[in-house]
Amino acid sequence: MTDQVLIFDTTLRDGEQSPGATMTHAEKLEIAELLDEMGVDIIEAGFPIASEGDFKAVSEISRLSKSATICGLARANYKDIDRCWEAVKHAKSPRIHTFIGTSELHRAIPNLTMDEMAVRIHDTVTHARNLCDNVQWSPMDATRTEWDYLCRVVEIAIKAGATTINIPDTVGYTAPVESADLIRRLIDTVPGADEIIFATHCHNDLGMATANSLAAVAGGARQVECTINGLGERAGNTALEEIVMALKVRPDIMPYATRVDTTKIMNISRRVATVSGFAVQFNKAIVGKNAFAHESGIHQDGMLKNKETFEIMRPEDVGLAGTSLPLGKHSGRAALRAKLVELGYDMADNQLADIFVRFKELADRKKEVYDDDLIAIIRQNEGEEDHVKLKSLRVVCGTQGPQTADLTLEVGGVEAATTATGDGPVDAAFNAVKALVTHEARLQLYQVSAVTEGTDAQATVSVRMEEDGRIATGQSADTDTVVASVKAYVNALNRLIVRREQSQVGYDTKGVSYKDV
Ligand code: KIV
Ligand code: ZN
Repeated sequence: MTDQVLIFDTTLRDGEQSPGATMTHAEKLEIAELLDEMGVDIIEAGFPIASEGDFKAVSEISRLSKSATICGLARANYKDIDRCWEAVKHAKSPRIHTFIGTSELHRAIPNLTMDEMAVRIHDTVTHARNLCDNVQWSPMDATRTEWDYLCRVVEIAIKAGATTINIPDTVGYTAPVESADLIRRLIDTVPGADEIIFATHCHNDLGMATANSLAAVAGGARQVECTINGLGERAGNTALEEIVMALKVRPDIMPYATRVDTTKIMNISRRVATVSGFAVQFNKAIVGKNAFAHESGIHQDGMLKNKETFEIMRPEDVGLAGTSLPLGKHSGRAALRAKLVELGYDMADNQLADIFVRFKELADRKKEVYDDDLIAIIRQNEGEEDHVKLKSLRVVCGTQGPQTADLTLEVGGVEAATTATGDGPVDAAFNAVKALVTHEARLQLYQVSAVTEGTDAQATVSVRMEEDGRIATGQSADTDTVVASVKAYVNALNRLIVRREQSQVGYDTKGVSYKDV
């Protein structure tokens, strides 16, 4: 019989913790809705005590969720757990997730002995269980915790009422054989283990997060914790799309089912990449641009004769339209709507009208408009409520310097113009932005890539800025690289302004330390 494996998505909590991946409130709601629609079983929506913003997001996601269980994170203290319950209690199916670091290194931080920590675990899990029937407990850094002690505290948490025990590989230290053995050991030796679900939560520091998670499933775990695109601190978390597709492609050796509708993978992957500002690497498994591209002659020849020669899954299975043709300047509104639906965007008429105008503008400049071009257009359409907007830009560049930029921005509803010079057109344009919107942010990253092929291709520009420890990323695309650069810069600036406002009212999402127990 095929066992069910629960998919626990933590894009909005562990994923959002990546420096610079901060999402706005609206973006969090949108991602939660997509996760719910795609069939994720549990959504970890945030860390309610961390900030007012996290609390609001978890509360609203709880109210809006249709079928997923909504979970919030809490450290091992009553205040965190109460705050978490206040946020998740609105959900049809709420869960409190409480954790404490159990390895020797982590026990030293709150300076608790093994016995003192055991008492803390008993008390906090009992407290959580008195509030909520569904309690998950995690011994952070479990894979570097002494196994005997781990078995002891897992037993305490089960007796105190935990319904799911999660075993985090917090620093991505374990390996597949050990990952499976650890879960097996817990199941075989801890009294009450058969009454609860074991979860696996892996980080990718050694590039083994997916392998370690699947090994844990083989060892008996029935919940996998993961994020879209593997978003997460450092090298990231286990990628949801890799787990779900591995189980789908290899039921012969991994007979475990999930409820996830895999055809929704590409859409949510693109959305997470956009809102987090973390572009997906081209050769990323499942969702990378090259994941289904066949370049070499031998591969192409094989593919033409029989797709199975080089393809273990179909692009359609992950929501990539297989043979879709590019649109052009003669394509009408109906063709555009059909294409957008195919890409996972079901637009209202007024939104479609707006996108149609932009599509026509682009089709006038570019012979063929590909799927990625359309996605780039849709991204441009966002940010209607931005504080800073680009109105016009004219740049003079070439071998005879200095390069000069004439720029008009709308800042807080008021138009302002300036002229600036710089070392190259992008530098001149950025200097002009800085003259109109004074700020101390440092540009940490400036990256340009082509959306599609050809000299008329749109350029996608990503920028990352840092100000007083706050990081904001921005992205944009245009057939003019300098215009795309300024739009991306302005996009990051707008996010930085939001982050600044959040800090002023005391809710900077990165404000709480895990160590602060
Ligand atoms: O990686 C980790 O240990 C975590 C815990 C908070 C579950 O994310
Ligand atoms: Zn984690």
